[in-house]
Amino acid sequence: MAFPMGHGTKVVLVLLGITLFSIGAQCAPIGSRRALAGEPVFDVTTYGAKGDGRADGALAFIKAWKEACAATGAVTLRIPKGDFMVGKVVFNGPCTANPITIDLQGVVLQTKDPSAMSGNEPAMLINDVTGVTLSGGGTVDGQGAAVWKYNDGKTLLPISLMFSKAKKCAVDGVNFLNAKGVHLKVTGSEEVSISNVKVTAPDESPNTDGIVISNSNRITVTNCNIGTGDDCVAIGDTNVGVNVSQVTCGPGHGLSVGSLGKRTNEGDVKDIRVWNCTCTGTTNGVRIKTYRASPILKATNIVFDDIIMNAVKNPVLIDQHYDSKNKKEPSNVHISDVHFTNIRGTTISQAPVALNCSDAFPCDAVELNNIDLVPAPESKFKTVTSICANTKFALLGKSVNPAGCEAVDAAAATVGHAVNTVTDSVSAAAFATSDAAGAAAEIAAQADQEVAHELADIDHF
Ligand SMILES: *[C@@H]1O[C@H](CO)[C@@H](O)[C@H](O)[C@H]1NC(C)=O
Ligand SMILES: *[C@@H]1O[C@H](CO)[C@@H](O)[C@H](O)[C@H]1NC(C)=O
Ligand SMILES: *[C@@H]1O[C@H](CO)[C@@H](O)[C@H](O)[C@H]1NC(C)=O
Repeated sequence: MAFPMGHGTKVVLVLLGITLFSIGAQCAPIGSRRALAGEPVFDVTTYGAKGDGRADGALAFIKAWKEACAATGAVTLRIPKGDFMVGKVVFNGPCTANPITIDLQGVVLQTKDPSAMSGNEPAMLINDVTGVTLSGGGTVDGQGAAVWKYNDGKTLLPISLMFSKAKKCAVDGVNFLNAKGVHLKVTGSEEVSISNVKVTAPDESPNTDGIVISNSNRITVTNCNIGTGDDCVAIGDTNVGVNVSQVTCGPGHGLSVGSLGKRTNEGDVKDIRVWNCTCTGTTNGVRIKTYRASPILKATNIVFDDIIMNAVKNPVLIDQHYDSKNKKEPSNVHISDVHFTNIRGTTISQAPVALNCSDAFPCDAVELNNIDLVPAPESKFKTVTSICANTKFALLGKSVNPAGCEAVDAAAATVGHAVNTVTDSVSAAAFATSDAAGAAAEIAAQADQEVAHELADIDHF
C-alpha cells in the first residue's frame, strides 16, 4: 500500500510543479501588465533568481535582461523585494526595447568572493544602451567589507555599478552600500542623470568613491546623499557638461574635478558646474586635482557656487601636485576660467583656501568671490589664511575670508586682472629642511601628512 502511494505522490508533485511553472511563466507578465498599465514586466524570479540571500542569481538576471532588451516598446525588468546574491552581471545592449526601467525593489547582494571579478572591473555593467532607468528604491550592496583589506593602494577593487556607452539613461532613487571599490561610475556616456541616490560606506573604506564620471557629456547629479571613504563625486577626465547640485557629502574626500592627467590618452574637461552642495567633515570640499608630468590638457569653465562647509579640512583646493611625490615635472593641465563663489562655513585646517597651481601652466582667470571660511570650534588653528601659488585672478572679490592671496600681491586685492604668483616663497617654506625651523617645519610635517594621506587616497580617477 505504502509503495504505490509514495509513487503517486511523486507524480502529482511533478505535475503540480509543471503546472505552477507554466502558470508562473504566463502570469508574471500578465499580472504586472495590469499593474504598470501595459508595460511587460520581466521579473528575475521568473527566470530562477531566488531572493534568499544565497543562490547566485546572476544568470537569472542576465536571462531576464536579454528578454527585456529584445522586446519592443517600454518594458520593466523587475528585481522584487528580497536579497539577491549575484556574481558578475552584464546587461548588454543595444536593445530594441526602449525605454527600459530596471525596477530594483530588493537588494542586490554582490558576491564577497574576490576571485569572481578582477581588478576594478564592474560587478554590474550596463553597456551600450539607450533609455535605461534604474529606480525602485532598492539597494546595491557591494559587501566590500570582506575585501577592503586587499586594497594595497595599487590594485583596484570592483566597481559596484557602471554605465558605459549609455545614452539618455538615469539612476533615480537607488541606494548604494559598501562597494568594494567605486559605487557608481558613468563612462563613455551622454545625457545620464543621477538623482535621489544615497551612497553609504565607512570613512575608512579605501577608494570607495561615491559617483565617478569620465569621458562623458551632459551628465547631471542632483539631490544625492553621499558618505564614503573617498570622493563623494569625482568628475574625471574627458568630461564636457557635468552639473552637480544638492549633494550632501560626508564623510569622504569631497567634490572633485579630477584627478586629471594620470594617463596619456586623457582629453580636456570643460563646462562643469557644482552648486548648492554641503560638505560635512570631509577632507576636501571642492577641489581640482591634477598629476604632475601629465599630458598637456585643458580644464576650463568650472564653477563651484553656493557650497556650505562644515568642519572641512581643505574647503577650496586646487592641487596640481596630486599624488605625485616622485615626479619632478610640473603638471601640464592648464586650468582656467574657474569660479569659487558663495562658499561659506567652517574648516579644521590653517589654509582653507589653497590654490596650488602648476609652475608650467599657472591657473588662469580664477574667481574667488564671497568666500567666508572660519575655524571650526574643534580646529586646532585659531587663525586661517589663503594660499595661492601660480594663480592669475580674473576676479578676486573683496569679501574673501580668509585673506592671504591678496596680501601677497597688493594688486590682486582689487577687483580686476591681477596676477598673483607666490610659488617660490610658499613652496620653499613647505619644503625647507634647514633654514626655516619652527613654523616651516610644522608646515612641512603637515605637507608630509598630506602626502601620506593622499597616498592612502590614490583614487586613480
Ligand atoms: C548645466 O547647467 C547649465 C546652467 O544652468 C545649463 O546651461 C546646462 O544645460 C546644464 N547641463 C546639463 C547637462 O544639465
Ligand atoms: C538648494 O538645495 C536645497 C536642498 O538641498 C533646495 O531645497 C533648494 O531649493 C536648492 N536651491 C537652489 C537654488 O537650487
Ligand atoms: C598647498 O601648497 C602649499 C605649499 O606647497 C602646501 O604647504 C600645502 O600643504 C598645499 N595644500 C594642499 C592642501 O595640498
